[in-house]
Amino acid sequence: MSNEHEQQILTTDAGIPVSDNQNSLTAGARGPLLMQDFYLIEKMAHFNRERIPERVVHAKGSGAYGTFTVTQDITKYTKAKLFSQVGKQTEVIARFSTVAGERGAADAERDVRGFAVKFYTEEGNWDMVGNNTPVFFVRDPLKFSDFIHTQKRDPKTNLRNPTSMWDFWSLSPESLHQVTILFSDRGLPIGHRHMNGYGSHTYSFINAANERFWVKFHFKTLQGIENFTNEEASQVVGEDRESAQRDLFYAIARGDYPQWRFLVQIMPEADADKTPYNPFDLTKVWPHRDYPLIEVGILELNRNPENYFAELEQSAFAPSNVVPGISFSPDKMLQARILSYTDAHRYRLGVNYESLPVNCPHATKAHTYHRDGLMRHDDNGKGAVNYEPNSFGGPVADPIHKEPAWKISGDGDRYDHRDGNEDYSQAGDLFRLLPKDGQQRLCRNIAMAMQGVPQSIIERQLAHFTKADPAYGEGVAKALGISVTGE
Ligand code: NDP
Ligand code: HEM
Repeated sequence: MSNEHEQQILTTDAGIPVSDNQNSLTAGARGPLLMQDFYLIEKMAHFNRERIPERVVHAKGSGAYGTFTVTQDITKYTKAKLFSQVGKQTEVIARFSTVAGERGAADAERDVRGFAVKFYTEEGNWDMVGNNTPVFFVRDPLKFSDFIHTQKRDPKTNLRNPTSMWDFWSLSPESLHQVTILFSDRGLPIGHRHMNGYGSHTYSFINAANERFWVKFHFKTLQGIENFTNEEASQVVGEDRESAQRDLFYAIARGDYPQWRFLVQIMPEADADKTPYNPFDLTKVWPHRDYPLIEVGILELNRNPENYFAELEQSAFAPSNVVPGISFSPDKMLQARILSYTDAHRYRLGVNYESLPVNCPHATKAHTYHRDGLMRHDDNGKGAVNYEPNSFGGPVADPIHKEPAWKISGDGDRYDHRDGNEDYSQAGDLFRLLPKDGQQRLCRNIAMAMQGVPQSIIERQLAHFTKADPAYGEGVAKALGISVTGE
Protein backbone atom coordinates (compact mmCIF):
# COMPACT_ATOMS: atom_id res chain seq x y z
CA MET A 1 0.00 0.00 0.00
CA SER A 2 1.49 3.39 -0.96
CA ASN A 3 1.80 6.14 1.64
CA GLU A 4 -0.95 8.10 -0.13
CA HIS A 5 -3.49 5.38 0.61
CA GLU A 6 -2.19 4.51 4.05
CA GLN A 7 -5.10 4.13 6.47
CA GLN A 8 -5.23 7.13 8.79
CA ILE A 9 -5.89 6.59 12.47
CA LEU A 10 -8.92 8.40 13.89
CA THR A 11 -7.95 10.91 16.59
CA THR A 12 -9.51 13.44 18.96
CA ASP A 13 -9.17 17.15 18.09
CA ALA A 14 -5.92 17.07 20.06
CA GLY A 15 -4.57 14.30 17.81
CA ILE A 16 -4.87 11.53 20.39
CA PRO A 17 -5.62 8.13 18.77
CA VAL A 18 -9.19 6.88 19.34
CA SER A 19 -9.51 3.21 20.21
CA ASP A 20 -13.27 2.78 19.60
CA ASN A 21 -15.67 5.00 17.62
CA GLN A 22 -18.70 2.67 17.96
CA ASN A 23 -19.04 1.85 21.68
CA SER A 24 -19.16 4.39 24.54
CA LEU A 25 -17.38 3.74 27.80
CA THR A 26 -19.90 2.26 30.24
CA ALA A 27 -20.06 0.52 33.60
CA GLY A 28 -21.17 -2.87 32.43
CA ALA A 29 -22.73 -3.78 29.06
CA ARG A 30 -26.03 -2.06 29.92
CA GLY A 31 -24.49 1.24 31.12
CA PRO A 32 -24.56 3.85 32.63
CA LEU A 33 -21.86 6.00 30.96
CA LEU A 34 -18.53 6.80 32.55
CA MET A 35 -17.81 10.53 32.65
CA GLN A 36 -14.22 9.95 31.69
CA ASP A 37 -15.27 9.17 28.08
CA PHE A 38 -13.88 12.56 27.02
CA TYR A 39 -13.97 11.52 23.37
CA LEU A 40 -17.75 11.02 23.50
CA ILE A 41 -18.10 14.41 25.23
CA GLU A 42 -15.89 16.12 22.60
CA LYS A 43 -17.93 14.52 19.81
CA MET A 44 -21.28 15.67 21.25
CA ALA A 45 -20.00 19.12 22.21
CA HIS A 46 -18.57 19.81 18.75
CA PHE A 47 -21.78 18.65 17.12
CA ASN A 48 -23.82 20.99 19.32
CA ARG A 49 -21.81 23.92 17.97
CA GLU A 50 -21.92 23.02 14.24
CA ARG A 51 -24.38 25.78 13.31
CA ILE A 52 -23.30 29.40 13.25
CA PRO A 53 -25.85 32.23 13.05
CA GLU A 54 -27.29 32.27 9.55
CA ARG A 55 -27.14 35.52 7.60
CA VAL A 56 -29.98 37.75 8.85
CA VAL A 57 -30.98 38.14 5.18
CA HIS A 58 -29.79 36.15 2.12
CA ALA A 59 -29.38 33.05 4.32
CA LYS A 60 -29.97 30.48 1.53
CA GLY A 61 -27.26 30.57 -1.09
CA SER A 62 -25.06 28.75 -3.60
CA GLY A 63 -21.84 29.73 -5.24
CA ALA A 64 -18.62 28.89 -6.97
CA TYR A 65 -15.16 30.14 -7.89
CA GLY A 66 -14.23 31.40 -11.31
CA THR A 67 -12.41 33.92 -13.39
CA PHE A 68 -13.01 37.47 -14.53
CA THR A 69 -11.39 38.29 -17.89
CA VAL A 70 -11.05 41.84 -19.24
CA THR A 71 -12.22 42.15 -22.87
CA GLN A 72 -12.31 45.96 -23.33
CA ASP A 73 -10.05 48.76 -22.15
CA ILE A 74 -11.70 51.03 -19.55
CA THR A 75 -8.50 52.48 -18.09
CA LYS A 76 -9.67 56.01 -18.98
CA TYR A 77 -12.32 55.60 -16.27
CA THR A 78 -10.55 53.55 -13.59
CA LYS A 79 -7.03 52.79 -12.45
CA ALA A 80 -8.17 49.61 -10.67
CA LYS A 81 -5.48 47.10 -11.58
CA LEU A 82 -7.94 44.29 -12.25
CA PHE A 83 -9.00 46.28 -15.37
CA SER A 84 -5.45 47.34 -16.37
CA GLN A 85 -5.08 45.19 -19.50
CA VAL A 86 -7.28 43.45 -22.02
CA GLY A 87 -6.93 39.72 -21.41
CA LYS A 88 -6.10 40.12 -17.71
CA GLN A 89 -7.68 37.49 -15.46
CA THR A 90 -8.68 37.75 -11.80
CA GLU A 91 -9.86 34.92 -9.56
CA VAL A 92 -13.40 35.38 -8.16
CA ILE A 93 -15.92 33.67 -5.91
CA ALA A 94 -19.62 34.36 -6.45
CA ARG A 95 -22.49 33.66 -4.07
CA PHE A 96 -26.13 33.79 -5.17
CA SER A 97 -29.00 33.79 -2.69
CA THR A 98 -32.64 34.39 -1.96
CA VAL A 99 -33.35 37.19 0.50
CA ALA A 100 -36.17 36.28 2.85
CA GLY A 101 -35.97 32.51 3.30
CA GLU A 102 -33.96 30.83 6.03
CA ARG A 103 -30.95 28.60 5.31
CA GLY A 104 -33.20 25.64 4.52
CA ALA A 105 -35.68 27.55 2.35
CA ALA A 106 -36.65 26.24 -1.08
CA ASP A 107 -34.79 27.85 -3.98
CA ALA A 108 -37.68 28.27 -6.43
CA GLU A 109 -39.50 30.98 -4.50
CA ARG A 110 -40.51 34.41 -5.75
CA ASP A 111 -37.90 36.71 -4.21
CA VAL A 112 -35.07 39.03 -5.16
CA ARG A 113 -31.81 37.12 -5.69
CA GLY A 114 -28.48 38.21 -4.22
CA PHE A 115 -25.59 38.39 -6.69
CA ALA A 116 -22.33 38.83 -4.75
CA VAL A 117 -18.90 38.58 -6.36
CA LYS A 118 -15.55 38.77 -4.58
CA PHE A 119 -12.71 39.69 -6.96
CA TYR A 120 -9.39 38.56 -5.46
CA THR A 121 -7.34 41.38 -7.00
CA GLU A 122 -3.64 42.15 -6.56
CA GLU A 123 -4.68 45.30 -4.66
CA GLY A 124 -6.94 43.45 -2.22
CA ASN A 125 -10.45 42.07 -2.49
CA TRP A 126 -13.22 43.97 -4.28
CA ASP A 127 -16.66 42.76 -3.22
CA MET A 128 -19.46 43.63 -5.64
CA VAL A 129 -22.47 42.84 -3.44
CA GLY A 130 -25.47 43.24 -5.73
CA ASN A 131 -28.84 41.75 -6.58
CA ASN A 132 -30.52 40.45 -9.73
CA THR A 133 -32.48 43.72 -9.83
CA PRO A 134 -31.12 47.16 -10.73
CA VAL A 135 -33.13 48.94 -7.98
CA PHE A 136 -34.28 48.37 -4.39
CA PHE A 137 -37.44 48.70 -2.26
CA VAL A 138 -36.37 51.69 -0.14
CA ARG A 139 -34.05 54.65 -0.57
CA ASP A 140 -33.34 55.49 3.07
CA PRO A 141 -31.47 52.95 5.24
CA LEU A 142 -33.62 53.82 8.29
CA LYS A 143 -36.36 51.84 6.53
CA PHE A 144 -34.33 48.70 5.74
CA SER A 145 -34.91 46.65 8.92
CA ASP A 146 -38.64 47.52 8.96
CA PHE A 147 -38.89 46.41 5.35
CA ILE A 148 -37.09 43.13 6.09
CA HIS A 149 -39.40 42.47 9.06
CA THR A 150 -42.32 42.49 6.61
CA GLN A 151 -40.60 39.85 4.47
CA LYS A 152 -39.67 37.52 7.31
CA ARG A 153 -42.03 35.58 9.60
CA ASP A 154 -44.88 37.20 11.52
CA PRO A 155 -44.01 37.49 15.24
CA LYS A 156 -47.23 35.74 16.31
CA THR A 157 -48.11 33.18 13.64
CA ASN A 158 -44.50 32.50 12.58
CA LEU A 159 -45.82 32.55 9.00
CA ARG A 160 -45.01 34.93 6.12
CA ASN A 161 -47.59 37.72 6.27
CA PRO A 162 -48.88 39.31 3.01
CA THR A 163 -50.74 41.99 4.99
CA SER A 164 -47.46 43.29 6.49
CA MET A 165 -45.80 43.25 3.06
CA TRP A 166 -48.54 45.20 1.28
CA ASP A 167 -49.10 47.50 4.26
CA PHE A 168 -45.43 48.52 4.17
CA TRP A 169 -45.21 48.75 0.37
CA SER A 170 -48.44 50.74 0.04
CA LEU A 171 -47.15 53.19 2.68
CA SER A 172 -43.74 53.33 0.96
CA PRO A 173 -44.41 54.11 -2.71
CA GLU A 174 -40.67 54.29 -3.43
CA SER A 175 -40.90 50.47 -3.42
CA LEU A 176 -43.13 50.40 -6.52
CA HIS A 177 -40.36 49.97 -9.10
CA GLN A 178 -38.81 47.01 -7.27
CA VAL A 179 -42.24 45.52 -6.43
CA THR A 180 -43.00 45.58 -10.17
CA ILE A 181 -39.78 43.66 -10.93
CA LEU A 182 -40.44 41.21 -8.09
CA PHE A 183 -43.88 40.23 -9.37
CA SER A 184 -42.87 40.28 -13.06
CA ASP A 185 -41.47 37.16 -14.73
CA ARG A 186 -37.94 38.05 -13.57
CA GLY A 187 -38.99 37.75 -9.91
CA LEU A 188 -38.73 33.95 -10.15
CA PRO A 189 -35.61 32.84 -12.10
CA ILE A 190 -35.28 29.12 -12.88
CA GLY A 191 -31.82 29.15 -11.32
CA HIS A 192 -28.84 31.37 -10.65
CA ARG A 193 -27.28 30.80 -14.06
CA HIS A 194 -30.28 32.33 -15.81
CA MET A 195 -30.44 35.78 -14.25
CA ASN A 196 -28.63 39.10 -14.56
CA GLY A 197 -26.75 40.79 -11.73
CA TYR A 198 -26.61 44.49 -10.91
CA GLY A 199 -24.47 46.52 -8.50
CA SER A 200 -27.69 48.59 -8.21
CA HIS A 201 -26.08 51.52 -6.36
CA THR A 202 -24.09 54.21 -8.04
CA TYR A 203 -20.41 53.78 -7.20
CA SER A 204 -17.41 55.79 -8.40
CA PHE A 205 -14.52 54.99 -10.66
CA ILE A 206 -11.28 56.96 -10.26
CA ASN A 207 -8.70 57.05 -13.06
CA ALA A 208 -4.92 57.51 -13.02
CA ALA A 209 -5.37 61.30 -13.36
CA ASN A 210 -7.48 61.13 -10.16
CA GLU A 211 -10.70 62.06 -11.98
CA ARG A 212 -13.95 60.64 -10.59
CA PHE A 213 -16.77 59.15 -12.70
CA TRP A 214 -20.06 57.80 -11.40
CA VAL A 215 -20.58 54.17 -12.42
CA LYS A 216 -23.23 51.44 -12.35
CA PHE A 217 -22.34 47.74 -12.69
CA HIS A 218 -24.27 45.19 -14.77
CA PHE A 219 -23.77 41.45 -15.30
CA LYS A 220 -25.83 40.01 -18.18
CA THR A 221 -26.29 36.27 -18.26
CA LEU A 222 -25.01 34.49 -21.36
CA GLN A 223 -27.24 31.50 -20.52
CA GLY A 224 -30.32 33.65 -21.30
CA ILE A 225 -32.94 34.91 -18.84
CA GLU A 226 -35.29 32.07 -17.91
CA ASN A 227 -38.03 32.17 -15.32
CA PHE A 228 -40.67 29.94 -13.74
CA THR A 229 -44.34 30.82 -13.55
CA ASN A 230 -45.82 30.50 -10.05
CA GLU A 231 -47.37 27.16 -11.01
CA GLU A 232 -44.12 25.76 -12.43
CA ALA A 233 -42.26 26.83 -9.31
CA SER A 234 -44.77 25.14 -6.97
CA GLN A 235 -44.26 21.90 -8.84
CA VAL A 236 -40.47 22.23 -8.74
CA VAL A 237 -40.45 22.99 -5.00
CA GLY A 238 -42.64 19.93 -4.44
CA GLU A 239 -39.99 17.78 -6.09
CA ASP A 240 -36.72 19.59 -5.32
CA ARG A 241 -36.19 22.31 -2.73
CA GLU A 242 -32.58 22.81 -3.88
CA SER A 243 -33.24 23.37 -7.60
CA ALA A 244 -30.88 26.37 -7.98
CA GLN A 245 -28.07 24.83 -5.89
CA ARG A 246 -28.36 21.58 -7.89
CA ASP A 247 -28.45 23.37 -11.25
CA LEU A 248 -25.36 25.50 -10.52
CA PHE A 249 -23.30 22.75 -8.88
CA TYR A 250 -23.87 20.11 -11.56
CA ALA A 251 -23.51 22.55 -14.48
CA ILE A 252 -20.03 23.40 -13.19
CA ALA A 253 -19.25 19.76 -12.34
CA ARG A 254 -19.97 18.71 -15.96
CA GLY A 255 -17.89 21.57 -17.40
CA ASP A 256 -20.84 23.70 -18.55
CA TYR A 257 -19.42 26.89 -17.04
CA PRO A 258 -21.89 29.76 -16.66
CA GLN A 259 -20.80 33.17 -17.94
CA TRP A 260 -21.96 36.75 -17.63
CA ARG A 261 -20.98 39.82 -19.67
CA PHE A 262 -19.79 42.51 -17.26
CA LEU A 263 -20.77 46.02 -18.39
CA VAL A 264 -20.75 49.49 -16.87
CA GLN A 265 -22.69 52.70 -17.29
CA ILE A 266 -20.52 55.78 -16.81
CA MET A 267 -21.74 59.25 -15.81
CA PRO A 268 -19.30 62.19 -15.79
CA GLU A 269 -19.08 63.59 -12.25
CA ALA A 270 -20.66 66.94 -13.16
CA ASP A 271 -23.72 65.31 -14.80
CA ALA A 272 -25.08 64.33 -11.38
CA ASP A 273 -26.55 67.83 -10.95
CA LYS A 274 -28.19 67.75 -14.38
CA THR A 275 -30.20 64.52 -14.52
CA PRO A 276 -33.98 64.89 -14.03
CA TYR A 277 -33.74 62.16 -11.37
CA ASN A 278 -31.36 61.81 -8.43
CA PRO A 279 -28.63 59.49 -9.79
CA PHE A 280 -27.89 58.36 -6.21
CA ASP A 281 -31.47 57.21 -5.59
CA LEU A 282 -31.43 53.41 -5.35
CA THR A 283 -35.03 53.15 -6.56
CA LYS A 284 -34.01 54.50 -10.00
CA VAL A 285 -32.06 53.18 -12.97
CA TRP A 286 -30.05 55.33 -15.35
CA PRO A 287 -31.85 55.00 -18.72
CA HIS A 288 -29.63 53.26 -21.26
CA ARG A 289 -30.35 55.89 -23.90
CA ASP A 290 -28.65 58.50 -21.65
CA TYR A 291 -25.88 56.26 -20.27
CA PRO A 292 -25.28 53.32 -22.62
CA LEU A 293 -23.80 50.05 -21.44
CA ILE A 294 -20.04 49.74 -21.99
CA GLU A 295 -18.63 46.20 -22.24
CA VAL A 296 -15.78 45.42 -19.83
CA GLY A 297 -15.28 41.68 -19.56
CA ILE A 298 -16.56 38.19 -18.91
CA LEU A 299 -17.28 36.57 -15.57
CA GLU A 300 -17.07 32.77 -15.68
CA LEU A 301 -17.70 30.33 -12.84
CA ASN A 302 -15.71 27.15 -13.29
CA ARG A 303 -14.82 25.58 -9.92
CA ASN A 304 -17.12 24.24 -7.24
CA PRO A 305 -16.04 24.74 -3.63
CA GLU A 306 -14.74 21.58 -1.98
CA ASN A 307 -16.62 22.28 1.25
CA TYR A 308 -19.87 24.24 1.41
CA PHE A 309 -19.54 25.44 5.00
CA ALA A 310 -15.89 26.51 4.81
CA GLU A 311 -16.15 28.28 1.50
CA LEU A 312 -19.75 29.53 1.16
CA GLU A 313 -21.33 29.65 4.62
CA GLN A 314 -18.17 31.33 5.93
CA SER A 315 -17.82 33.62 2.91
CA ALA A 316 -18.29 37.26 3.83
CA PHE A 317 -18.99 39.96 1.24
CA ALA A 318 -18.90 43.66 2.14
CA PRO A 319 -19.67 46.73 0.02
CA SER A 320 -16.87 48.44 2.01
CA ASN A 321 -14.33 46.22 0.24
CA VAL A 322 -13.40 48.46 -2.69
CA VAL A 323 -9.93 48.66 -4.25
CA PRO A 324 -8.01 51.74 -5.50
CA GLY A 325 -9.85 53.03 -8.60
CA ILE A 326 -13.30 52.02 -7.29
CA SER A 327 -15.13 53.94 -4.58
CA PHE A 328 -18.45 55.02 -3.11
CA SER A 329 -21.14 57.59 -3.89
CA PRO A 330 -23.45 59.71 -1.74
CA ASP A 331 -26.22 57.06 -2.03
CA LYS A 332 -27.49 56.85 1.59
CA MET A 333 -28.27 53.17 1.25
CA LEU A 334 -24.73 52.40 0.09
CA GLN A 335 -23.29 54.51 2.89
CA ALA A 336 -25.26 52.48 5.45
CA ARG A 337 -24.23 49.19 3.86
CA ILE A 338 -20.56 50.19 4.18
CA LEU A 339 -21.01 49.83 7.93
CA SER A 340 -23.66 47.14 8.19
CA TYR A 341 -21.94 44.19 6.49
CA THR A 342 -18.66 44.16 8.40
CA ASP A 343 -20.69 44.51 11.61
CA ALA A 344 -22.79 41.49 10.55
CA HIS A 345 -19.66 39.48 9.71
CA ARG A 346 -18.06 40.18 13.10
CA TYR A 347 -21.23 38.90 14.76
CA ARG A 348 -21.67 35.90 12.45
CA LEU A 349 -18.04 34.80 12.02
CA GLY A 350 -15.98 36.68 14.60
CA VAL A 351 -13.51 39.53 14.45
CA ASN A 352 -10.89 37.57 12.47
CA TYR A 353 -13.29 36.56 9.67
CA GLU A 354 -11.16 38.15 6.96
CA SER A 355 -8.31 35.77 7.66
CA LEU A 356 -10.45 32.73 6.77
CA PRO A 357 -9.14 31.16 3.54
CA VAL A 358 -12.22 32.15 1.49
CA ASN A 359 -12.17 35.76 2.69
CA CYS A 360 -8.46 36.62 2.84
CA PRO A 361 -6.74 38.20 -0.16
CA HIS A 362 -5.53 35.55 -2.64
CA ALA A 363 -3.46 37.73 -4.99
CA THR A 364 -1.74 39.82 -2.32
CA LYS A 365 -1.20 39.69 1.42
CA ALA A 366 -2.86 41.73 4.17
CA HIS A 367 -0.42 43.78 6.31
CA THR A 368 -2.17 45.30 9.32
CA TYR A 369 -1.51 46.18 12.95
CA HIS A 370 -4.67 44.30 14.05
CA ARG A 371 -3.73 41.63 16.56
CA ASP A 372 -5.33 38.96 18.73
CA GLY A 373 -9.10 38.49 19.01
CA LEU A 374 -11.18 35.32 19.08
CA MET A 375 -10.08 32.46 16.82
CA ARG A 376 -6.86 34.08 15.66
CA HIS A 377 -5.53 31.06 13.82
CA ASP A 378 -2.68 32.47 11.72
CA ASP A 379 0.75 33.50 13.10
CA ASN A 380 -0.80 36.74 14.55
CA GLY A 381 2.03 38.82 13.09
CA LYS A 382 4.58 36.71 14.98
CA GLY A 383 7.07 39.03 16.71
CA ALA A 384 6.66 41.89 14.21
CA VAL A 385 6.15 45.43 15.43
CA ASN A 386 2.48 45.99 16.35
CA TYR A 387 2.19 49.79 16.41
CA GLU A 388 2.70 52.69 14.02
CA PRO A 389 4.63 54.95 13.63
CA ASN A 390 7.63 52.76 14.38
CA SER A 391 11.33 52.55 13.62
CA PHE A 392 11.31 48.85 12.72
CA GLY A 393 10.06 48.70 9.14
CA GLY A 394 6.38 48.00 9.82
CA PRO A 395 3.87 48.60 7.00
CA VAL A 396 3.08 52.25 6.17
CA ALA A 397 0.20 54.00 4.38
CA ASP A 398 0.79 55.01 0.73
CA PRO A 399 -0.54 58.49 -0.18
CA ILE A 400 -0.64 57.45 -3.83
CA HIS A 401 -4.00 55.86 -3.03
CA LYS A 402 -5.57 59.08 -1.74
CA GLU A 403 -8.89 59.64 -3.47
CA PRO A 404 -9.78 62.94 -5.13
CA ALA A 405 -11.59 65.27 -2.73
CA TRP A 406 -15.32 64.90 -2.68
CA LYS A 407 -17.53 67.93 -3.24
CA ILE A 408 -19.99 67.63 -0.36
CA SER A 409 -22.13 70.46 0.99
CA GLY A 410 -25.36 71.04 2.91
CA ASP A 411 -26.63 71.48 6.44
CA GLY A 412 -26.76 68.42 8.66
CA ASP A 413 -30.46 67.60 8.94
CA ARG A 414 -33.06 64.88 8.33
CA TYR A 415 -34.23 65.57 4.77
CA ASP A 416 -37.53 64.07 3.60
CA HIS A 417 -36.35 61.39 1.17
CA ARG A 418 -39.54 61.88 -0.87
CA ASP A 419 -38.76 65.51 -1.78
CA GLY A 420 -37.66 65.73 -5.41
CA ASN A 421 -37.85 61.95 -5.92
CA GLU A 422 -41.00 60.77 -7.66
CA ASP A 423 -41.84 57.10 -7.47
CA TYR A 424 -43.96 56.32 -10.50
CA SER A 425 -42.38 57.07 -13.89
CA GLN A 426 -39.72 54.32 -14.00
CA ALA A 427 -42.11 51.73 -12.58
CA GLY A 428 -44.49 52.78 -15.37
CA ASP A 429 -41.68 52.54 -17.97
CA LEU A 430 -41.05 48.98 -16.86
CA PHE A 431 -44.75 48.08 -17.04
CA ARG A 432 -44.95 49.55 -20.55
CA LEU A 433 -41.91 47.64 -21.81
CA LEU A 434 -43.37 44.28 -20.75
CA PRO A 435 -45.16 42.33 -23.49
CA LYS A 436 -48.96 42.09 -23.07
CA ASP A 437 -48.82 38.56 -21.67
CA GLY A 438 -45.99 39.62 -19.32
CA GLN A 439 -48.19 42.47 -18.04
CA GLN A 440 -51.01 40.02 -17.44
CA ARG A 441 -48.76 37.62 -15.52
CA LEU A 442 -47.46 40.57 -13.44
CA CYS A 443 -51.01 41.60 -12.51
CA ARG A 444 -52.00 38.03 -11.75
CA ASN A 445 -48.92 37.38 -9.61
CA ILE A 446 -49.69 40.52 -7.61
CA ALA A 447 -53.34 39.53 -7.15
CA MET A 448 -52.27 36.05 -5.96
CA ALA A 449 -49.86 37.60 -3.46
CA MET A 450 -52.61 39.88 -2.12
CA GLN A 451 -54.85 37.06 -0.92
CA GLY A 452 -56.16 37.84 2.56
CA VAL A 453 -54.90 41.44 2.58
CA PRO A 454 -57.45 43.98 3.97
CA GLN A 455 -59.35 45.95 1.33
CA SER A 456 -58.09 49.35 2.56
CA ILE A 457 -54.47 48.31 2.01
CA ILE A 458 -55.26 46.85 -1.43
CA GLU A 459 -56.94 50.10 -2.45
CA ARG A 460 -53.99 52.18 -1.26
CA GLN A 461 -51.66 49.99 -3.33
CA LEU A 462 -53.94 50.03 -6.40
CA ALA A 463 -53.68 53.83 -6.43
CA HIS A 464 -49.89 53.48 -6.79
CA PHE A 465 -50.19 51.01 -9.69
CA THR A 466 -52.63 53.40 -11.39
CA LYS A 467 -50.27 56.35 -10.96
CA ALA A 468 -47.50 54.33 -12.66
CA ASP A 469 -49.86 53.46 -15.53
CA PRO A 470 -53.67 53.38 -15.54
CA ALA A 471 -53.52 50.01 -17.33
CA TYR A 472 -51.38 48.64 -14.48
CA GLY A 473 -53.99 49.61 -11.86
CA GLU A 474 -56.80 48.26 -14.02
CA GLY A 475 -54.92 45.02 -14.68
CA VAL A 476 -54.35 44.27 -11.00
CA ALA A 477 -57.93 45.26 -10.08
CA LYS A 478 -59.26 42.98 -12.80
CA ALA A 479 -57.07 40.11 -11.60
CA LEU A 480 -58.44 40.71 -8.10
CA GLY A 481 -61.98 40.77 -9.49
CA ILE A 482 -62.69 44.33 -8.30
CA SER A 483 -63.04 47.72 -10.02
CA VAL A 484 -60.15 50.22 -9.85
CA THR A 485 -61.88 52.25 -7.16
CA GLY A 486 -62.26 49.07 -5.20
CA GLU A 487 -66.06 49.16 -5.29
P1 NDP B 1 -34.17 50.14 -22.27
O1 NDP B 1 -35.25 49.77 -23.22
O2 NDP B 1 -32.90 50.72 -22.79
O3 NDP B 1 -33.76 48.91 -21.36
C1 NDP B 1 -34.73 48.04 -20.89
C2 NDP B 1 -34.10 47.21 -19.83
O4 NDP B 1 -35.11 46.43 -19.25
C3 NDP B 1 -33.02 46.25 -20.30
O5 NDP B 1 -31.97 46.31 -19.38
C4 NDP B 1 -33.68 44.90 -20.25
O6 NDP B 1 -32.77 43.93 -19.82
C5 NDP B 1 -34.68 45.12 -19.15
N1 NDP B 1 -35.84 44.26 -19.28
C6 NDP B 1 -36.38 43.73 -20.37
N2 NDP B 1 -37.45 42.96 -20.06
C7 NDP B 1 -37.56 43.04 -18.72
C8 NDP B 1 -38.44 42.46 -17.80
N3 NDP B 1 -39.39 41.66 -18.19
N4 NDP B 1 -38.27 42.73 -16.50
C9 NDP B 1 -37.27 43.55 -16.09
N5 NDP B 1 -36.40 44.13 -16.93
C10 NDP B 1 -36.56 43.87 -18.23
O7 NDP B 1 -34.90 51.11 -21.23
P2 NDP B 1 -34.40 52.04 -20.02
O8 NDP B 1 -32.95 51.98 -19.78
O9 NDP B 1 -35.00 53.38 -20.25
O10 NDP B 1 -35.18 51.36 -18.82
C11 NDP B 1 -36.58 51.16 -18.86
C12 NDP B 1 -36.96 50.27 -17.72
O11 NDP B 1 -36.26 49.06 -17.86
C13 NDP B 1 -36.55 50.82 -16.36
O12 NDP B 1 -37.54 51.63 -15.78
C14 NDP B 1 -36.26 49.59 -15.58
O13 NDP B 1 -37.42 49.18 -14.90
C15 NDP B 1 -35.91 48.52 -16.61
N6 NDP B 1 -34.46 48.24 -16.55
C16 NDP B 1 -33.56 49.23 -16.82
C17 NDP B 1 -32.23 49.01 -16.61
C18 NDP B 1 -31.24 50.10 -16.78
O14 NDP B 1 -30.13 49.96 -16.24
N7 NDP B 1 -31.55 51.15 -17.52
C19 NDP B 1 -31.74 47.68 -16.15
C20 NDP B 1 -32.78 46.69 -16.00
C21 NDP B 1 -34.09 47.01 -16.16
P3 NDP B 1 -32.17 42.84 -20.86
O15 NDP B 1 -31.53 43.63 -21.94
O16 NDP B 1 -31.21 42.09 -20.04
O17 NDP B 1 -33.32 42.02 -21.31
C1 HEM C 1 -26.61 40.39 2.92
C2 HEM C 1 -27.74 44.47 5.25
C3 HEM C 1 -29.33 46.43 1.11
C4 HEM C 1 -27.46 42.68 -1.29
C5 HEM C 1 -26.84 41.31 3.91
C6 HEM C 1 -26.53 41.11 5.31
C7 HEM C 1 -26.84 42.25 5.95
C8 HEM C 1 -27.35 43.18 4.98
C9 HEM C 1 -26.66 42.55 7.44
C10 HEM C 1 -25.97 39.82 5.91
C11 HEM C 1 -24.46 39.82 5.76
C12 HEM C 1 -23.80 38.59 6.34
O1 HEM C 1 -24.18 38.14 7.41
O2 HEM C 1 -22.84 38.08 5.68
C13 HEM C 1 -28.25 45.37 4.33
C14 HEM C 1 -28.64 46.74 4.62
C15 HEM C 1 -29.10 47.29 3.47
C16 HEM C 1 -28.99 46.25 2.43
C17 HEM C 1 -28.52 47.40 5.99
C18 HEM C 1 -29.64 48.65 3.17
C19 HEM C 1 -29.50 49.69 3.97
C20 HEM C 1 -28.91 45.62 0.09
C21 HEM C 1 -28.93 45.97 -1.30
C22 HEM C 1 -28.38 44.91 -1.98
C23 HEM C 1 -28.04 43.90 -1.00
C24 HEM C 1 -29.42 47.29 -1.87
C25 HEM C 1 -28.12 44.74 -3.45
C26 HEM C 1 -27.93 45.74 -4.28
C27 HEM C 1 -27.08 41.75 -0.35
C28 HEM C 1 -26.52 40.45 -0.69
C29 HEM C 1 -26.28 39.80 0.52
C30 HEM C 1 -26.71 40.69 1.58
C31 HEM C 1 -26.24 39.92 -2.09
C32 HEM C 1 -25.70 38.40 0.68
C33 HEM C 1 -24.20 38.40 0.48
C34 HEM C 1 -23.68 36.99 0.55
O3 HEM C 1 -23.91 36.24 -0.41
O4 HEM C 1 -23.07 36.64 1.57
N1 HEM C 1 -27.35 42.58 3.74
N2 HEM C 1 -28.48 45.12 3.00
N3 HEM C 1 -28.37 44.36 0.24
N4 HEM C 1 -27.18 41.85 1.01
FE1 HEM C 1 -27.84 43.46 2.00
